[in-house]
Amino acid sequence: MRSGRRVLRHLHRAAVAGALLLLLPATAGAVGAPRIVNADGPAAVPWQVALVPLRDGGVGVPFDVFCGGTVRDATHVLTAAHCVADDNASSMAVVAGVYARSDASAAQVRAVTEISTPPAFGTEPGHDVAILTLSPLTPLTLGGTVAALPVVPPDGADVGRTAVVSGWGNTDPGALGNTQPDTLLYGSVTVHDPAACQAYGPAFVASRMLCAGRTNGASTVDACQGDSGGPLARYDDDPSGPDGTQVPADFDALIGVVSFGRGCGDPGFPGVYTRLAEPTINAFVTQPAPPARLEPLTTPSITGIPAAGQALGCTGATWTDPAPQTVVRWLSAKTDAQGAITDVRVDGTGPALTVGDGDVGRILTCEVRATNAGGSRRMQARLVGPVIARSDPAPVRGQTLAPGNVTTLARPTARITRRHCAARRCRLTIVAKAAGVSAASVTVAQHRLSGCPGGTACRRDRVLHATRSAGGVFTVTTGRLAPGRYRFTAVASSAGGLRGAPASAALTVRR
Ligand code: ARG
Repeated sequence: MRSGRRVLRHLHRAAVAGALLLLLPATAGAVGAPRIVNADGPAAVPWQVALVPLRDGGVGVPFDVFCGGTVRDATHVLTAAHCVADDNASSMAVVAGVYARSDASAAQVRAVTEISTPPAFGTEPGHDVAILTLSPLTPLTLGGTVAALPVVPPDGADVGRTAVVSGWGNTDPGALGNTQPDTLLYGSVTVHDPAACQAYGPAFVASRMLCAGRTNGASTVDACQGDSGGPLARYDDDPSGPDGTQVPADFDALIGVVSFGRGCGDPGFPGVYTRLAEPTINAFVTQPAPPARLEPLTTPSITGIPAAGQALGCTGATWTDPAPQTVVRWLSAKTDAQGAITDVRVDGTGPALTVGDGDVGRILTCEVRATNAGGSRRMQARLVGPVIARSDPAPVRGQTLAPGNVTTLARPTARITRRHCAARRCRLTIVAKAAGVSAASVTVAQHRLSGCPGGTACRRDRVLHATRSAGGVFTVTTGRLAPGRYRFTAVASSAGGLRGAPASAALTVRR
């Protein structure tokens, strides 16, 4: 959520006018109590949930919120499909009843047993919504700070309506890196005529998306990175009803899911939300027992010799659904002198590929996309190549891979999942993956932020190499550090040299 000072002033005015509702702080009494918090941005939103990574059966506090979501009922949460596109259900948890990420006192943490996304997601624009199913044995306890918000009926009109978006997303899109607030922020926005989003071109599809924001002079209220998957809750517009002081009584429906935007708070590019009133999307998200999306079991591999004129096969991909519909694409790329991957292109589709002369010198992989009624997932084979020319001496069958060329063409991501300092050493756990495959390496830059002896310069930054254990999990332990505050910045690299976005954490070393 973007919330500059101007934005906040604007929100305050809107709140006084009753155009948006004031939500109770998490510590306040029962929902519905006539109690108003300062309309300065933070609010407890009872249908808002946080999606957090689940590691070794636990979640860290402060909650490491990677997306938002909405309580549909005690065992179902809606979020954005892009939030969970390449994830297994077991990798995440839903946390309801959270106001401050650092306060777990009222939190209801629940494992996710199944993920369901519209099968069309990823093949045509939109459909950016997912249903997360929680175990029927551990439903959310509804009431108080956790409440369900009903999904809008199909074809409900939305243009012109006022709605509230909420999330722990970035507050300053101009700042480098994450500016995630501790407390949940909200903003009141108007659902614009689709024409307001025409600057997005064909990426904006009016039937399946809403265009929403609120601009007053120089301030524009909008969602931002990290708010994805979160609720766009429609204000009921009932003048005789509650006046904005009662939650959730002043809201009648979930009309949208935070999906994308260009920048944040740019008046020319309002926020884009998945439109839940679209009949197909509506039917999908309201299924009482949504079908589970398949999950990968075994990775495909490439058979054959990567030489021009040879036929390659892509085999061995298996999924939790024994008979999914599958589509295979062949991707090739160049590697530059540093081993970085460039010029990725699609060379063909289908289970076999005859290698062309134009592939000589390039590396190749196959990507299998499998679909069932609960959505689709992708897997990539290990890279083969570089492809040799027809005239080169025939390679021995099986000798297809240059050592070290094991990677994917996706940029790796790094998440710092554990951090702890004791006895003046800090230990970090980093999960680094690309398209579900472990990253090849993770480097961690150590930078001292404070505690340098007066007048003298701090010791120079160090670069630490993390050690890989199973499943894309890397750990690094520092040497004995002088007391003070340090920033650690982790960057994952794939074997092909693609570097991911940095993830950082600041830690204090005590005497
Ligand atoms: N895709 C973003 C996310 O993953 C949401 C961006 C919304 N942006 C906006 N300007 N409304 O969090």
